[in-house]
Amino acid sequence: MSSDLDRALDEAVLAAKSALTRCTTVDDWEAAATAHLGRKSAINGLLRQIATLPTDQRGPFGKRANESSRTLTAEFDARKADLLANSLAAVRDFDPSTPGVALRRGHEHPVLAIRREVEDVFVSMGFRVQDGPEVETEAYNFEALNIPSHHPARDFQDTFWVDDPAGRRLVMRTHTSPMQVRAMRQFGAPLRVIVPGRVYRNETADATHESAFHQVEGLVVDRGISVAHLKGVMAAVLGRLFGGEVAVRLRPHYFPFVEPGFELDFQCRFCAGAGCAVCKGTGWIELLGCGLVHAHVLKAGGVDPEAFTGFAFGLGLDRLTMMRHGVEDIRHFHGGDLRFFEQF
Ligand code: DAH
Repeated sequence: MSSDLDRALDEAVLAAKSALTRCTTVDDWEAAATAHLGRKSAINGLLRQIATLPTDQRGPFGKRANESSRTLTAEFDARKADLLANSLAAVRDFDPSTPGVALRRGHEHPVLAIRREVEDVFVSMGFRVQDGPEVETEAYNFEALNIPSHHPARDFQDTFWVDDPAGRRLVMRTHTSPMQVRAMRQFGAPLRVIVPGRVYRNETADATHESAFHQVEGLVVDRGISVAHLKGVMAAVLGRLFGGEVAVRLRPHYFPFVEPGFELDFQCRFCAGAGCAVCKGTGWIELLGCGLVHAHVLKAGGVDPEAFTGFAFGLGLDRLTMMRHGVEDIRHFHGGDLRFFEQF
């Protein structure tokens, strides 16, 4: 019996000592002291058993156990004093002039950075910046823009339809153009507004197509707005974005919500119009769709087409960003590879 207790005591003392040597902080020490000297510790349990021993064993074992406990407590106390002194020394020896550890900071996504630049340019020209819903009604996304349900233009904008419990016909907006009508309804005419935002198409992704991408819609409505205003404003904006004079040209193009409609090209910056790989030898780079707002669209926005005319444009932000930075694949933007983003 006594030898079992003796063995248990030896083990408890050994465990306590080894725990103590592993302490490197005051916190470690607190944990070790609780585990090995505390109320629920093995040693404490043994001390409590002394009273239950037969009288002849009580004396010798009691003496050993009490001595062990006292020695251990002294060793723990000494170690705690050391640890405290160390941590004070660490504070005292801390050199506040040591250079800090640099934290890694993120930055704006390149498409967002260009979006802000575009916003700044338009704001400086008196445009307001509006947000619009990304889940849009069929009526705003198509009908109000002169695209009825049988219209072939619906086919080239492959649409994500949204199930609506309330039974409305909802889509992920395929372009920012529905905001033309919403803005006219909200603010009336005259009006200068841009609408940057995300748009969605049910397309297979490749180097120049993504199912989610970014556009900036622009709309100016006023008395006597003509194609000359459209071209002049776009040339001024591109001059601000690219620096210097930027030559632009309009090519007739069909969009249901403008009449006349155009595609706007700007002269290639890389070859100054001589023809190179970037502009595929043409000297021009296709940038956006635009035109004079169709009378049906003005009416849908509650604006009198007899009194007001307007121009509108839709600019692809991802493409603009790709051109600015020479990015060859649009899928990088959503790829999440930090090695790509760290280059900006
Ligand atoms: N909404 C068109 C698209 O996503 C772009 C566009 C073309 C917008 C002509 C316009 C415009 O405002 O006038 O392809």
